[in-house]
Order: sequence, then structure tokens, then C-alpha cells
Amino acid sequence: MVNTPQEQKRKAALAALEVIESGMKLGLGTGSTAAFMVRGLGQLYREHKLNDLICVPTSVATRNLAQEQGLPLTTINDVDRLDLTIDGTDEFDPQLNLIKGGGGALLREKIVASLSDRFVIIADASKEVDQLGRFPLPVEVVPFAWKTVARHIENSGIQALLRASMNPGDPYKTDQGNYILDLQTGGMPDLPKMKWMLEGLPGVVEHGLFLDMADEVFLGKEDRVERITK
Ligand code: A5P
Repeated sequence: MVNTPQEQKRKAALAALEVIESGMKLGLGTGSTAAFMVRGLGQLYREHKLNDLICVPTSVATRNLAQEQGLPLTTINDVDRLDLTIDGTDEFDPQLNLIKGGGGALLREKIVASLSDRFVIIADASKEVDQLGRFPLPVEVVPFAWKTVARHIENSGIQALLRASMNPGDPYKTDQGNYILDLQTGGMPDLPKMKWMLEGLPGVVEHGLFLDMADEVFLGKEDRVERITK
């Protein structure tokens, strides 16, 4: 039977649970693929197949789901390091560079991933690309200067769209109360240059390029889950 994209996400998420060991401090990602992982982890924890975990969620949504699952939670301020973070992605390239933030949680996701000894990605087959950038690059900006930042980016020839919320006319707001610009890059042949440009812009809080951070991808395919390491 051919796995649908949803099945690919679920199977990749459940396969990645095998890298979790009792006693670990874990970062919990955000998004539909990560939600499969959190539910699977909750089940293993309730069945006492994994014990003594401490979990740091990367969004309010993941915190609520993890709470529902009965997982023991803390905040990033209360841990020095994490053993492992498992998260989804919007795209990954052959070097395991990522675009993240389609779900709006890029800031907390990057903080948590950067404090993790191991960063494992779970994804369906549509996320694998040769070059990052078909997916719009999310950039979190302070509301105070969102137009200034957007203008600056557009002057370099890249369209920057303010992400809309479900409420017509209202911008989407992140868990931090910031806005998101979705950059229509069409493809990024020079990732360090893009990263450098965004990090030099006052008003940018964080961007969704996760370069040289992921250690491994569990990739759900039509017929199997493939493990890709660097
Ligand atoms: C959340 O902000 C994102 O980084 C998600 O990890 C990413 O959008 C993947 O989401 P799905 O697992 O829902 O495809």
C-alpha cells in the first residue's frame, strides 16, 4: 500500500521515537508531523516504556498537546542543554539545511534546536528538495518596523508578504506577539548570503533558515521511512 503524505508524516514521526531514551531532556517541535511524534511519545511515557523525561515544547500549541498527553514539561530557561530535539520542517536540502516556520514557531524552534546536542528532523517526501526556497522563507519581525523590514527586503528584489491570520484584515501573530513576513525567494543558491542579509536587518527577530543544524532526517516515503544522516 502507498503511504499518503499524512501517513508518511506519521510513520516518520513514530520511527524517530526510537532515538529517545529514558532520562533524556527533550525538545518537542511544532507542526502536524511533530504532533504525531508528541502523541506517540505520550503513549510510550504513559505505558512506562520511556521514563524520567523532561520536555521543552517549542510553541503554545505543542505545550497544550504535550500537557494533554501527560508529558512532564519545563521551559528552556530551566535547562542548560537538551539531549535531543525532534521537529518537522518545511524543506530540507541534501546538506540537511532547512526552511522552518511555516507553522510560525521558528523563533522558539531555533532557540530550542540550538541548545540541543542532537537535532532530528521528521518529514514527509514533499519536504525533500535540491535547493531551498520553493517554500516561502518565514522571517519573524517586530510589528513596530515590519514595513521597514519588508521594504528593505523588497529593494533587494524579493517579495515579502505579511502573513495573514484567520481573522480577515489582522496579521498573523507569533507566540511572541511578532509578525511574519513570508519571503518569495523562488530558490536560494547562496544560503549564507541570505542568512547574513537577514541577520543584519534591525527589526528582524529571527528567520527560518536553519543552516548546518540538523543531524538527521527521518523521511517518510510512499513505501518506507528512510534515515538520512550527514
Ligand atoms: C513550525 O513553525 C514549522 O517549523 C514546522 O515544523 C513546519 O512548518 C512543518 O510543519 P508540518 O509538520 O505541519 O508540515
